[in-house]
Amino acid sequence: MPEPLHFKPVRLSETTITELMIPSYSNFGGKIHGGILLSLMDKVAYVCAAKHAGNYCVTASIDTVDFLAPIEVGELVSLMASVNYVGNTSLVVGIRVVSENVKNNSTNHTNTSYFTMVAKNEFNLPTQVPGLILESQNEVRRFVEAIRRKELRQNYRQEVEQIKAPLNYEKYEHLLVGERCKLAVDIR
Ligand SMILES: CC(C)(COP(=O)(O)OP(=O)(O)OC[C@H]1O[C@@H](n2cnc3c(N)ncnc32)[C@H](O)[C@@H]1OP(=O)(O)O)[C@@H](O)C(=O)NCCC(=O)NCCS
Repeated sequence: MPEPLHFKPVRLSETTITELMIPSYSNFGGKIHGGILLSLMDKVAYVCAAKHAGNYCVTASIDTVDFLAPIEVGELVSLMASVNYVGNTSLVVGIRVVSENVKNNSTNHTNTSYFTMVAKNEFNLPTQVPGLILESQNEVRRFVEAIRRKELRQNYRQEVEQIKAPLNYEKYEHLLVGERCKLAVDIR
């Protein structure tokens, strides 16, 4: 008989990874590659999600990644992750990324992102995750914000499906006015 699923507090899976930005992480401009940061974010999201789920997890989606400020070689980057929301088999990990220059004692908030992770069982099928015990007002706020983002994403998906519908050129021709394109094809 399977054990009854339990609830876990957010703090039990909170995870911080701090990594030194070494020269091989940089791009031609001498700043840190966005892809390096994404990889670190995926790593911390996995650790946090797997600790809460007690299972292997996969990344289902990432809710916006805006690079707010460049990161320099030699800086320390800390990625702070916590479970913001749990669904049935999925959970949302919020990640705050901060870079730190130890020489001048300055810090910079460079990213905040939300990773949706899905727990998998031994048959590689989505499996239920424990519920979440919310112990602070911040945790309640994050949980509610995640619900709102989920709703927004559902509406966004429906709108995107409509964009993919066959284009009615007469209806949308005005969108091209002022854009930096030249029509070299008859669209009527
Ligand atoms: C994500 C994945 C597990 C979903 O599988 P699925 O068969 O569609 O499963 P379900 O429809 O039952 O959805 C499972 C959960 O994932 C959520 N989910 C599925 N696709 C999602 C998406 N694109 N964004 C956010 N959540 C998603 C569902 O809402 C559901 O959540 P809930 O159980 O909490 O309500 C599956 O598509 C997968 O394995 N993808 C590859 C993941 C991977 O390899 N990631 C690494 C990237 S290289």
